Amino acid sequence: MKNLLQSAQILFLESNNNVSLLANASAFIYDMVEHLNWVGFYLYNGNTLEVGPFQGKPACVSISIGNGVCGTAFLKQEIQNVPDVHKFKEHIPCDGASNSELVIPLTKKGIQIGVLDIDSPLFNRFDPETVSSLVAISELILEHYQI
Ligand code: SME
Repeated sequence: MKNLLQSAQILFLESNNNVSLLANASAFIYDMVEHLNWVGFYLYNGNTLEVGPFQGKPACVSISIGNGVCGTAFLKQEIQNVPDVHKFKEHIPCDGASNSELVIPLTKKGIQIGVLDIDSPLFNRFDPETVSSLVAISELILEHYQI
């Protein structure tokens, strides 16, 4: 995990704008973490969550606050670790291959930026070790995110 974070830190340092930061962050997670089929950002536009940089199949463009796993994580400002998305009420299916999902809210200095959304074709993919690595990466992303 230390090596993973060091690589992320070096990569994120190279970005001098939020688009390149989020684009490379989604590619980095997709490449480094096994068994994922979608990794990306939904960004808060003051009204809804809109899809941002991602890796994977084309996804739904807009998610209402409180809807789906992403909108729930954003509304509650709590990580949502869903072992079986088919049992999550109001899950929004974007890629039929997804079976589990992790959504991490992104907030910096009290400003709600959006969420990091990660899908896996495996059920119960997000064990505690994977979650803590992804939380640490999301904290690094926030350090470099310009508000
Ligand atoms: N499943 C998400 C929607 C986004 S896709 O997974 C890319 C949700 O329920 O919010």
